[in-house]
Amino acid sequence: MKALLCTRYCTPDELELADIAEPVPAPGQAVVQVKAAALNFFDTLIIAGRYQHKPPFPFSPAAEFAGEVQSIGAGVTGFAPGDRVIGNIGWGAAREKVAVAAEQLVPMPAGLDFDRAAGLTVTYGTTMHALNDRAKLKAGETLAVLGAAGGTGLAAVELGKLMGARVIACASSDDKIAFAMQHGADDGVNYASADLKEALRTLTGGKGVNVVYDPIGGAQGEAALRGLDWGGRHLIIGFAAGDMPKLALNLVLLRSYDVLGVYWGAWVQRNPQAHRANMTKILEWCAQGKLSSHVHAVYPLADGPAALKAIAARQVMGKAILRP
Ligand SMILES: NC(=O)c1ccc[n+]([C@@H]2O[C@H](COP(=O)([O-])OP(=O)(O)OC[C@H]3O[C@@H](n4cnc5c(N)ncnc54)[C@H](OP(=O)(O)O)[C@@H]3O)[C@@H](O)[C@H]2O)c1
Repeated sequence: MKALLCTRYCTPDELELADIAEPVPAPGQAVVQVKAAALNFFDTLIIAGRYQHKPPFPFSPAAEFAGEVQSIGAGVTGFAPGDRVIGNIGWGAAREKVAVAAEQLVPMPAGLDFDRAAGLTVTYGTTMHALNDRAKLKAGETLAVLGAAGGTGLAAVELGKLMGARVIACASSDDKIAFAMQHGADDGVNYASADLKEALRTLTGGKGVNVVYDPIGGAQGEAALRGLDWGGRHLIIGFAAGDMPKLALNLVLLRSYDVLGVYWGAWVQRNPQAHRANMTKILEWCAQGKLSSHVHAVYPLADGPAALKAIAARQVMGKAILRP
């Protein structure tokens, strides 16, 4: 079978499309035929050796996938060949088949296609945990989302609206703002041309927003912190801009802010049942059309490098999907 392999820390163009042996399910495992694998920003880091997880070589990028159970190992109950499932395995899904612990699989509801189902887990799972468990976002509050057209950003726009918040989409181009507003955002700020702190204050009658969802960090992360209202919460999701902002801790004190770290992967390990409940809800909402899981583009496995380069170049709105 074909697999996109990282054989040493490398650039996207140095990944190799290789033929490897098909997996056999060990006890407790299922082998899934991957119909769609979703890429995330962290895949650009993991192949370069710049991510917190450093898998042994050779490995495939792509944490999450949707597909069909092909075979099951001894002791597996609850899944049978032919079942449509999604999964999140950290890395390794950019290949035709994966062997996965059956307990890591979630059934796909009818009415959802493989491409949209593949990219639901990391972005919407992270965001559901961030907005619910960490920020405790309430209906009527104002939520500013940075990188609002990206994977996690779009999830925050859509889940924020479902939770009853007023959502301000913040992104680097008017096209991205328009895209986020098509997906439910109430207002937009183009931080490539506007001062983000001033814009957030202007849009809230001078008060500032209640919650910032920040997957990018850098200068805009710091500006967004300064655009919070008294008692506001700043969700630290990631640092796609490359720099970790130096938050002004005097402001945290003087304006009674909460700076909230979000490490969804570790939370999932500690709370597997709550995670499954979140995923069941997210899948249901997506099948009902309440969440888009927007697919920017579908690439054949061999074009995985082009997909990763598009993510790194900030060109992707929603998700980039590989179809092995
Ligand atoms: N904490 C967690 O548990 C968790 C879970 C999932 C992901 N993450 C992290 O969240 C971050 C975003 O992930 P994602 O999948 O949403 O990424 P994405 O789809 O690539 O979106 C990231 C957005 O960041 C903005 N950006 C600003 N500077 C950038 C730069 N130099 N390069 C690329 N993008 C830049 C872009 O929006 P504009 O062009 O509009 O600025 C882009 O749309 C990553 O750091 C990822 O590792 C964390």
